[in-house]
Amino acid sequence: AAPTAADLLARFVRDVPDFPSAGVMFKDIAPLLADGPAFGAVVGDLADRYRGTVDAVVGIEARGFMLAAPVAVTLGVGFVPVRKAGKLPGPVWAAEYALEYGTAEIEVQQDAFGAGRRVLVLDDVLATGGTAEATCELVERAGAEVVELAVLLELAFLSGRDKLPGRPVHALLTV
Ligand code: PRP
Repeated sequence: AAPTAADLLARFVRDVPDFPSAGVMFKDIAPLLADGPAFGAVVGDLADRYRGTVDAVVGIEARGFMLAAPVAVTLGVGFVPVRKAGKLPGPVWAAEYALEYGTAEIEVQQDAFGAGRRVLVLDDVLATGGTAEATCELVERAGAEVVELAVLLELAFLSGRDKLPGRPVHALLTV
């Protein structure tokens, strides 16, 4: 039988200890992106789940871009970037979120969505959930509806879902 998306992620996502700082186990999706059939199968799995239900796919800078753009093209819908502050020409909506030390800010263009658009938010990893929650808030401020937040990997021990109460979250693999 063909491997499932979870099988492919278990095989092609690499654990890198102490990156970007001591004590952090980095989830490196580069081996997945570098394998055409595996990358294609994961994109296809996500596209199958959302076909006919969304009008746009939002990718979160930077690794979310690499997933959201091919899923959007496969579905025949648009792609919308949520970027770190200062990268998008205005007018934009901005949201701040907590990092382990300090805060970060992300932005979306105010005219990114038509009224009532149904949106899939896609990223590689759900860790503490701060990035995902800020992104969902931006999508809603821009007038669209978050159908679901999807990630390749959910790091369950960081309890990211607790920051996303009432929001549907789909993880291809939970570790
Ligand atoms: C990583 C990852 C998610 C986010 C998850 O991005 O790609 O976007 O962190 O963390 P959280 O759930 O604790 O908010 P990062 O900020 O490292 O940016 P990058 O994709 O540009 O490397």
